[in-house]
Amino acid sequence: MIQLIRGFKDILPGEVELWQHIEKTARDLFEAFGFKEIRIPIMERTELFARSIGEDTDIVEKEMYTFPDRKGDLLTLRPEATASVVRAYIQHKLYSQDPVQKFCVVGPMFRRERPQKGRYRQFYQIDAEVFGSASPYVDALLVQLLDTLMKRLGVTDVTAHINSLGCPACRPAYREALGTYLSERREALCADCERRRERNPLRVLDCKVPACREAVAEAPALSDYFCEDCRTHFQTVQTCLTDQNVAFTIDPKLVRGLDYYTRTIFEIQTSALGAQSAVAGGGRYDGLVKMLGGPDTPATGFAIGFDRLAEIVAANRGDYTLAPQLFIAALGQACRARTYGWSCELGRAGIRVEMDFSDRSLKSMMKRANRMNAAHVLIVGPQELDNQTAVLRNMQTKVQDEIPFDGLVDSLKDKLR
Ligand code: HAM
Repeated sequence: MIQLIRGFKDILPGEVELWQHIEKTARDLFEAFGFKEIRIPIMERTELFARSIGEDTDIVEKEMYTFPDRKGDLLTLRPEATASVVRAYIQHKLYSQDPVQKFCVVGPMFRRERPQKGRYRQFYQIDAEVFGSASPYVDALLVQLLDTLMKRLGVTDVTAHINSLGCPACRPAYREALGTYLSERREALCADCERRRERNPLRVLDCKVPACREAVAEAPALSDYFCEDCRTHFQTVQTCLTDQNVAFTIDPKLVRGLDYYTRTIFEIQTSALGAQSAVAGGGRYDGLVKMLGGPDTPATGFAIGFDRLAEIVAANRGDYTLAPQLFIAALGQACRARTYGWSCELGRAGIRVEMDFSDRSLKSMMKRANRMNAAHVLIVGPQELDNQTAVLRNMQTKVQDEIPFDGLVDSLKDKLR
C-alpha cells in the first residue's frame, strides 16, 4: 500500500470541523479589523525566498523543497507566505490603492524539517500582513489580535513574548558587540552557532543547545544599543498592550528565524506542545518591500501555525463533528421513493439530513442513526405509507410524533430549525 510522505498528513473528517471552526473564528476577526484575503501560489522562484528569508537561515539553508523544473528554472514550494505577499504587493502595485493595506492568507507551507509532534513538512499557516504603517500601534494591534483569537478559541496556556531587534541605524553596533562577546566564548558554542557567530550572530541568542544558552547568558543586551526612535517605538508597543490588557513578557533573547525583521518581533508560546513552543510568530519588516524592488514601505505581520493551534484547541475541547438533525429511515423501495424528495428539499433548506438508501432493517437503521448522533429519526415503513403519516422520533427524549405526509417538509423545517 502506498503511504503518505513522511512529515505530511491527512486531516480527516472529525478533525476538519475543528479546523473550519478555527479558520472561521480567525476570518471573522480579520474581517472586523479590515484584513482582505489574498491567494498566492504555492510555488515561487527560489530566489524570492532566498533573498527575503535570508541565505543564512535554517529555512533557506536546509529546509526548502527546491527543484529545477523541466526548463531548469529553480522553483521552491513556499516555506512561508510573507515573501509571496510582498512580491504580489509590488507586482500588482497594490500600494497605489491605499497607503495602508492589510492582507491575510490561509494555506499550506512546506519545510523539510525533522518531523515530530507539532512539526510537519507540510503545515498550514493563518497569516496576516499590514503594509504602509511604521506605527508601533500596528505591531501592538497584531499582538492584540492574536491574544483575542486565542481567547475566543478558549486557549489559555499561551504567553505573548515580545522583543525589538532595533533598526539598521542601531543594530550594527550591537551585532559587533555581540560578535566580540561570542568570539571570546567560541569553544562553548555548538557547531551551528560557531558558523552563525560570524554570519548571523543574533541567531546564537535563541539556540536551544544548553551549552550555547549558558554561553549567551551574560551577552550584551540589544536594548542597551537602541537608538532613540527604536526605544520609544518599543515602549509604545508595550504601553498599547498594557492598555488593552494583553499580557506579555519581554524576551530579550527572542530573535526569530527569518532575516527580514526590524524592530518589534513577537511569538505566542505554549508549553502544551513539547519542544514546539511557538503557536504563532511575527514582527516588523520595514526593509523588505524596498529590498525586493518596491517602494520604501514599512510592514509588519504574523503567521499562526494552524496545525499547532488545532492540536491545542482539540486538547481543550471535545467533538466538533456536526451530527445530522434528521435521519430518514425508509423501509423498502416504495417508502424510499416517497421520502427521497423530502431529503433533497430539507437539505436544500439547510437542514442536516441523512437518508439510508439500503434495505437494512429498522433496527439496524436506528443503530446507525444513534451512532451518527442524529437528533431525530423520521420513520416511514409500509404502515406509515398506508396512513400517509410518518413517525418522528426525538432520539434524546424518545418521544414520537406523527407527522402527516401532507405539508411534511414545512412542518419539519419548523420543528428542526
Ligand atoms: P515562522 O515563525 O517561521 O514565521 O512560522 C510561523 C508559525 O508557523 C510558527 O510559530 C509555527 O507555529 C508554525 N510553523 C512553522 N514551521 C512549522 C512546521 N514545520 N510544522 C508546523 N508548524 C510550523 C513565519 O513564517 C513568518 N512568515 C511570519 C510572519 C508574517 N512574519 C511577518 N509576517
